[in-house]
Amino acid sequence: MLVLVAAGLVMPPATATAAFPYQDPALPVPVRVADLVSRMSLEEKLGQMTQGERASVSAADVTAYRLGSVLSGGGSAPQVNTAAGWADMYDGYQKAALATPLGIPLVYGVDAVHGHNNVAGATIFPHNIGLGATRDPGLAERIGRAVAEEVSGTGIDWNFAPCLCVARDDRWGRTYESFGETPDLPASMASIVTGLQGETLDGPASVLATAKHYVGDGGTAGGADQGDTRLSEADLRAVHLPPFEAAVRRGVGSVMISFSRWNGVKLHGHRYLITTVLKEELGFGGFVVSDWNGIDQIDGLRGTSALDVRTAVNAGVDMVMVPVEWRRFIDLLRAEVRAGRVSTARVDDAVRRVLTKKFELGLFERPLTDRSYTASVGSAAHRALAREAVAKSQVVLKNAGGVLPLARTGGRIFVAGKNADDIGNQSGGWTITWQGLSGAVTPGTTILQGIRNTVGSAATVTYSSDGSGIDGSYRVAVAVVGETPYAETRGDRPGGLALDAADLSTIATLRASGVPVVVVLVSGRPLDIAAELPGWNAAVAAWLPGTEGQGVADVLFGVVPPTGRLPMTWMRSFSQQPINAGDGQTPLFAQGYGLT
Ligand code: GLC
Repeated sequence: MLVLVAAGLVMPPATATAAFPYQDPALPVPVRVADLVSRMSLEEKLGQMTQGERASVSAADVTAYRLGSVLSGGGSAPQVNTAAGWADMYDGYQKAALATPLGIPLVYGVDAVHGHNNVAGATIFPHNIGLGATRDPGLAERIGRAVAEEVSGTGIDWNFAPCLCVARDDRWGRTYESFGETPDLPASMASIVTGLQGETLDGPASVLATAKHYVGDGGTAGGADQGDTRLSEADLRAVHLPPFEAAVRRGVGSVMISFSRWNGVKLHGHRYLITTVLKEELGFGGFVVSDWNGIDQIDGLRGTSALDVRTAVNAGVDMVMVPVEWRRFIDLLRAEVRAGRVSTARVDDAVRRVLTKKFELGLFERPLTDRSYTASVGSAAHRALAREAVAKSQVVLKNAGGVLPLARTGGRIFVAGKNADDIGNQSGGWTITWQGLSGAVTPGTTILQGIRNTVGSAATVTYSSDGSGIDGSYRVAVAVVGETPYAETRGDRPGGLALDAADLSTIATLRASGVPVVVVLVSGRPLDIAAELPGWNAAVAAWLPGTEGQGVADVLFGVVPPTGRLPMTWMRSFSQQPINAGDGQTPLFAQGYGLT
């Protein structure tokens, strides 16, 4: 009987607990999906394939257009940017979805790529490049669980993470979103998917994870964001596919398509890679979502065209992220279906994939925020976990004369550098806003505060951003320098990866005093430091630690012994880019390097 029902051949009887079979949690998901799809109009199906951005979607729109999903782009927060404010916003949209005739709940997506980073007060974890330096998949899984709890506490049920990109060129603005330059690292750290999704998607605090950006986003020529990855199929499969295979094996619920091209062809319209390889060969059973207006780029012209729409959907995109022009998208797709250029079979397949995850998430039974997790946002337990991750991600590049670990007692310590006392800078992009920004953007512990916390009254700590005031009376000077926040294309640095003039000047001021200098690099990638390194007594790659800067101090003072190892090869010269393990070039530090 169930087989006939699953095939949609026989309508199962309504059970006592539910008006229709799809509403009966006792029935298998495939049966519920088949029953629901059989009751859906074309309009309802098109709605399930459409994702709009909250600033362009009202609750009434969700009901009227049967939208299947809403997202927050980077930094797109409700008026009241608190966990409760997010939960109220989510519940408002969800109630609107439940008000549709079939009452299909929506999924709400955010980029919680290093913690629930749009939410003020959330725990901000190290960006992926730092987690790659820990070589600790178990830690990544624990972080995934913590992030899932904070995301769930705000109602959100879908996380556009992890990025499983294999960053091959440090000039790329998204290098920090990569766990490493060789596929083994992102593949092993895909354990974060299990943390996010739990053992079952309907488990407590489980959220849908997203393996992104499929495929080859980190391999573009020159590291140009949204550029062209020119590789043989064998090399594309060898370098960029393994992390997605690992995520599929872990049951990742969604995959996001890359803006980039493969040998000149846009991924968003690539039927072979999306349908033949990902869905058929790898057996990916979740749903494929496009990136932000990503389908617009398929035909090479500005705006969304009918060609864009049918090419993307026929290639295998199941849900389309059309932040603003979602009405136009629905009109174009409707016309393509009616004209027979997009088959109803393709539409039904896309809708079945989306609905399957909604049923598996338990959204039909528990559509609204589980407020028992709301207090977990920014909790002490999560911050302690983040602190552990920060300490494990520190990579000691140099330690001449054993200047590290620093003594915790006695004497005077000088701290300098633009990144020493700046939560925004130490968190990087995708923090409170899309691009991130400098300053006290969210509660946390700066690296300077971490240093002060470690020594307490047992030593004197003086801070001066540009190093002015340093003299020979100090036993050590710590310069915390590096990059200021950026995200995506704005982070591309085709012109060089050197420290900026302010940082170089600060370090020079410290060195002129004759005091030993420890340089801490807060950056989203390896920097071009070979010329300056000889003048530094010690150097630590801190990456982008997030809110828990105490973890950096833990390693500087030996509270936690350094164990971090480079996830990326460290260039000897900018002219070596791209430089990767095994490419025959001689780096300053090899992938895997780290003093312990
Ligand atoms: C962005 C990014 C993608 C993100 C999406 C939604 O452009 O490419 O990583 O998930 O849009 O914010």
